[in-house]
Amino acid sequence: MGIEALSPYYLWVKSFHLMAVIAWMAGLFYLPRLYVYHSQIAPGGEESARFMKMERLLLKAIMNPAMIATWIFGLLLILTPGIVDWTSGWWLTKFASVVAMTWFHGTLGKARRDFAEEKRVRTGRYWRIMNEVPTLLMIIIVIMVIVKPF
Ligand code: HEM
Repeated sequence: MGIEALSPYYLWVKSFHLMAVIAWMAGLFYLPRLYVYHSQIAPGGEESARFMKMERLLLKAIMNPAMIATWIFGLLLILTPGIVDWTSGWWLTKFASVVAMTWFHGTLGKARRDFAEEKRVRTGRYWRIMNEVPTLLMIIIVIMVIVKPF
């Protein structure tokens, strides 16, 4: 199974996969932090508008392209013969965790639209807790893909 022509580029593709992952993770760690502070600012006014601009640029100019690149290079790695065994526990756990990470990205996008409409749907405490989600998923993903424990 897979595309033989991809094999010579395996290490290049993996390098670009990791560069995209680093950019995506930087945003996944930072955006909830912005939401912690934005949720404590009264709607309207200059300060709230400044947070909206930071959130919009972080999501649209960095996180969305980085997530798409992570998936494209990740799928190219899946299609490289001999790299992924779909019966192995490490891969299934990693794959479920990256799907969860993508869902989390989606919830941050929804929250950005709420803030852009000056809605304060969640508390600062909620975003402090949510800030731990990408950290936890990253720990699981990196151990699974490097150690391949099961
Ligand atoms: C978004 C969808 C993703 C897909 C489809 C995907 C797929 C893959 C595949 C197939 C490999 C090659 C495994 C190997 O060489 O043994 C790989 C490598 C890797 N992935 Fe991902 N990945 C994704 C997201 C992520 C994320 C979010 C992280 C980190 C938070 C991550 C971290 C890594 C690391 C560190 C490696 C290198 C492992 C090594 O050199 O042995 N990946 N990925």
